[in-house]
This record gives sequence, C-alpha cells and structure tokens, in this order.
Amino acid sequence: MTADTAASGKEGDARAEGPADAAGAAEYVIDVRNLRKSFAGREVVHGIALKVRRGEIYGFLGPNGSGKTTTIRMLCGLLTPDAGEGHCLGYDILRESRQIKLHVGYMTQQFSLYADLTVLENLAFMARVHGMPQPLALARKKAEEMGLADRMHQLAGTLSGGWKQRLALTACTLHEPELLLLDEPTAGVDPRARRDFWNSIHALAAKGVTVLVSTHYMDEAERCHELAYIYNGRILARGPVRRIMAESGLFAYAVSGPQKRLEALAERLQKENAVEIATFRGEALHLAGRDRERLQATVKEICAHNDLSCQPAEPTLEDVFIHFMNTAGGRAQITGAIAPDEKAREAGS
Ligand SMILES: Nc1ncnc2c1ncn2[C@@H]1O[C@H](COP(=O)(O)OP(=O)(O)O)[C@@H](O)[C@H]1O
Ligand SMILES: [Mg+2]
Repeated sequence: MTADTAASGKEGDARAEGPADAAGAAEYVIDVRNLRKSFAGREVVHGIALKVRRGEIYGFLGPNGSGKTTTIRMLCGLLTPDAGEGHCLGYDILRESRQIKLHVGYMTQQFSLYADLTVLENLAFMARVHGMPQPLALARKKAEEMGLADRMHQLAGTLSGGWKQRLALTACTLHEPELLLLDEPTAGVDPRARRDFWNSIHALAAKGVTVLVSTHYMDEAERCHELAYIYNGRILARGPVRRIMAESGLFAYAVSGPQKRLEALAERLQKENAVEIATFRGEALHLAGRDRERLQATVKEICAHNDLSCQPAEPTLEDVFIHFMNTAGGRAQITGAIAPDEKAREAGS
C-alpha cells in the first residue's frame, strides 16, 4: 500500500478480500470492509475494515472523535453505513441489521439504564425487552453470577461507577449474546473495579463470547488479543500488541538525574528532531524516537553535557500511539504496523 492509497482511505478496500466461504464466515464474527459514514456532509469514518475472530477480545483504541462509537454503531445495526459491506455474526450488516441487533450485546458509552429502578428491576426489564422466559428469575440468577447479589435492591442511580458498569455488562449479557460490543466500558472507573471488569470479560471470552471493546487505557489495551488503532476515521495500525509495538520501529531511553535539570531538558528536547516523545515516567525522563542512531547520539550528548545518566528503555504502547498520531500526516511510515498477512494480500491484489 502506498501513502496515497492509505491517505485516501482505500486500505479498507485493499483488505476487503477476506474469505467469503462458510469456513471464513465461521472464523470471523466480525468481517466488514470499506465502512464509511458522514454526518452533515462530513465523513467521520473513512473506509474501515475489521476482522474479529470468534472468542477474541479485540481492542478498539483511538482519541476522542476518531470514529470508534460510530463504527461500533454501524456494526450492531444501529447506524446504516453510507458505504461498505460485510457480516457481523454471519448476518449481512446492510440487509440483516434486525437480526444483528437481536444477537449482539451492546454496552453504550453512557450509562443507559434506569437510575430510578433497582438493579434487579433494571435486569428484569431488560430480560423482558429481550423476550426471555421468566425474566425476574433470570435477572436474579445473572445478578448473582455477576457478583451483584448484595446490591440487587439498590437503585441503579445510587451505584458507584464500577458497580454501574458491572450492572450494564450484566444487562447486555442477559440474552447470552455471542458478540459483545463494549464502548469505553471502564471510563472513569477505579483500578480495582476495572480489573474485576476485565476478569469478567476474559471469563466470557473463555466461554466463546467475542468481545470488541473500546478503551483509552493502555493497560486494558494490553489485555486484548488484538488491537486496532483508529485516528480520524482511519485504522492506522492493527494486530497483537507486541507486533504493533515491534513494527512501530520506536526506540527509547530513560534519562535520570536531578529533577530540575530533567524538567528543563524535557522542554528543550521536544524541539530535537531525533526525539519524538519526551515524557516523565516516575523519576526518569523517557525519550523515544525512530532513528536509533540519532536518538542515541542526541541522548549521549545531552547526558554528557548535563551530567545525567541514561540507559536504553522499552518503548511503551502509549509512545507507539502518540507516534501514530504524530505521523498520521506522513502515512507511508506507519503502514509497517499493518499485519504481514494483510500486506501479502495487498501485494497480491
Ligand atoms: N449523530 C452525530 N451527528 C453528527 N456528528 C456526529 C454524530 N455522531 C458522531 N459525530 C461526530 O463524528 C465524529 C466521530 O465521533 P465518534 O464516533 O463518537 O468518535 P469516538 O467514539 O472515537 O470518540 C466526531 O467528530 C463526532 O462529533
Ligand atoms: Mg465514543
């Protein structure tokens, strides 16, 4: 793929030729390509392609306004794409959106249950909406399974953020969907509740449920089997975390010494070409860039001049995503983060 085809959003097309046979459909719970959506004449999703395997936890990352929610809503049949095609749970995303809605569990970005109903009442109501037999008994059983037993009679509006998210997750799994679409499910939730939430997600995945989850948290990204990083309506990188990191081509150093000196340095280093990212990690100044030799030369010179010490460090996932955003203009540089099998397909197409 050239920089031009990437910039025109045709990467969706290039990756479109996924398996259309029955085996391919069974392997991929989500298999869509060239999804596009405009609001008021402004295109916000530019030809996105996504393939998510059965039982996979797939992370969807990207800054606010990059098109994550819009894409999720197109996948679950709530929003009709302007263009694009593909299948979700084997149903055609354009023609069978009603079926998709019935079989997907969608957790919206905003808490959307009833604040003035109890936990149990909310769950029983949702069970009725899904047409489940014995809704109250089911609500009670699910609340117990999901650790909500002690809060069953509490008004949903009085729950803390973590418990609200747990209730929302329970509500969207009542009908035992094969696919969960979770839109920033842990935003603003404390670390312990986030960890518990992720344990529940992994338990669901272990039972064969496929999960597409959007998040801003880097530790959560690392808990996913695969990731897609979306920016301005385009996917800039995808694949397992380790591969995205390795293929970003970033190198990093940790510089340590007196804090005041490091702070003064951090500002100056932002202007150095070899240093793409300069940020504090604990007491050390963390520097990252792609040109290993120039980065090393710059860091060594600075340390010698300022009586500081430096040592090689691991780039972080945050570095990698900031790098993607920085280079989104010079797109040819970032295609390396696209999976090799996709590159092969592009080369052959
Ligand atoms: N219903 C809508 N009407 C107009 N613009 C919208 C609508 N929904 C989303 N947008 C715009 O589309 C862009 C992508 O939004 P969204 O998909 O919510 O991004 P994200 O979930 O990544 O934060 C944003 O610029 C947002 O303002
Ligand atoms: Mg969103």
